[in-house]
Amino acid sequence: MLLKLAILISGRGSNMRAILNAVKKQGIPINPVVVISNKPTAGGLRIAKKYGVKTEIVESKGFQGTRWEYDQKIIHVLSKYDITPKNSLICLAGFMRILSPEFIKKFKNRILNIHPSILPAFPGLDAQRQAIESGVSHSGCTVHFVDEGVDTGQIIVQETVKIKNDDTEETLSKRILAKEHKAYVKAVKLIAEKKINVTGRKVKFLA
Ligand code: GRF
Repeated sequence: MLLKLAILISGRGSNMRAILNAVKKQGIPINPVVVISNKPTAGGLRIAKKYGVKTEIVESKGFQGTRWEYDQKIIHVLSKYDITPKNSLICLAGFMRILSPEFIKKFKNRILNIHPSILPAFPGLDAQRQAIESGVSHSGCTVHFVDEGVDTGQIIVQETVKIKNDDTEETLSKRILAKEHKAYVKAVKLIAEKKINVTGRKVKFLA
């Protein structure tokens, strides 16, 4: 069964672009069905359209309800495209909202996120700045499943980047971003090709 792919974004969408490009050029067996943004101004929306992928906006600004009520609006959009926990992969690609535990439970082991550090180091915001300030020699990025914690889900792919003496948050972020694109594509490919088996916290890679 070909999985349906939904990508959630909030901004420029460079990770989304890397995934859509790889699906097209490398023939990754997954069907990109919809890109959803919580911001109408997200630059990634235009890119998604260029790739012929449907886009939807579920505006979060000014939304008065609870987190779960907002997420139900996302689920409503997903159902419109017949995206269910059984047939889907949801990629968070710079989606700047925390999902409700209800949503995460419903889509258990179906949601991926990319984080710009080698987890479990530097979870949360400003991961690149945290890495520079801590004085570590290397940082990088992590693609992981989303669980109820902040950046705590099972790790699928990590890529490292050496930190240079004169690195700033900007220069390091740029080099990490290039690795993010590779790592996210690798992870989506592994899942699309059913080469991953998850048991509890353990991720097994099948040959
Ligand atoms: C990336 O650095 C990602 O690690 C973080 O948000 C940023 C999104 O960038 N979660 P983009 O929108 O994919 O270009």
